[in-house]
Amino acid sequence: DSVVGQAVFDEIIARDSRIEPRDWMPDAYRRTLVRQISQHAHSEIIGMQPEGNWITRAPSLKRKAILMAKVQDEAGHGLYLYSAAQTLGITRDEMTQQLIDGKAKYSSIFNYPTPTWADMGAIGWLVDGAAICNQVPLCRASYGPYARAMVRVCKEESFHQRQGFEILLSLMNGTEAQREMAQDAVDRWYWPSLMMFGPPDDESPNSAQSMAWKIKRFSNDELRQRFVGMLVPQAEVLGIRLPDPDLRWNEDEKRWDMSEIDWTEFHEVLAGRGPMNAVRIQNRRDAHEEGAWVREAAAEYARTQARKTER
Ligand code: 3HC
Repeated sequence: DSVVGQAVFDEIIARDSRIEPRDWMPDAYRRTLVRQISQHAHSEIIGMQPEGNWITRAPSLKRKAILMAKVQDEAGHGLYLYSAAQTLGITRDEMTQQLIDGKAKYSSIFNYPTPTWADMGAIGWLVDGAAICNQVPLCRASYGPYARAMVRVCKEESFHQRQGFEILLSLMNGTEAQREMAQDAVDRWYWPSLMMFGPPDDESPNSAQSMAWKIKRFSNDELRQRFVGMLVPQAEVLGIRLPDPDLRWNEDEKRWDMSEIDWTEFHEVLAGRGPMNAVRIQNRRDAHEEGAWVREAAAEYARTQARKTER
């Protein structure tokens, strides 16, 4: 019963072990995992759109092949994460419906446009770089299916980040126009990538409980600091300026001092009023409708197979 269940659950969490789908878990633990994992999965699927925009326009066959592989990886990450969420009792259809009804959150970062090829570099370097900082600790999340999904995701994420860095490096070693295009893309993606880590710790309603349950291992601000610390030396190698004139290492406090993040923009994007929110959801809705025949055919095939085995 729940008294014994709670005691066993608490002991598993206390010894840093794993909660598995059949284990007893508090309803609130289940709910917060469905919340976070489904939003994470939605982010991966919506995240295919900004980069997908450049697959037909990549500057070379090599770049096209690399970008296609990356976008396919994101689809796979979405698949692992939807499957992890389904172990908690929510169905794929429910999650998909929540997304296309505009009722589900997904990462704010994917609501920005990708007007130039350099955006592919900035997304790989900044967005996948931020994702690595956020997702490596999630490999140790207390919920087994989530943590295990993250191990594979993180391996692929490092390829994503490196190919983004390499695109920017090529541009920075190119013409003046290419250098300006790369700097412009970093100027547009830097601040939104810092917002990926969530609101400041003192305005993060889920963090305390998620950290107590060892879902979240580090706070939003801690990971944001770690990310900036990773970017600074890489920006120097690239010869790219990070668009924050106040960014400097504070030796006394052992932290990066930075300008205030525009949290109004953050909340606007979360409210669905970002530059590309409506387009991203409409595209996802269209894809779902256009793909209905595939789902119906697969379901009919499964039914005929089932009838054969019944005979
Ligand atoms: N975009 C959208 N919503 C955000 C957000 C963002 N950047 N940051 C925070 N939020 C939401 C939270 O979901 C929460 O709303 P909810 O209670 O309705 O879910 C609210 O803002 C308050 O934030 P909290 O800090 O209290 O929420 P969390 O403890 O859940 O922390 C998080 C937010 C750090 C994003 C955490 O949910 C997390 O680590 N999620 C898993 C990782 C993830 O989703 N990454 C997003 C990008 S996926 C990606 O990068 C793929 C790669 O291939 C590019």
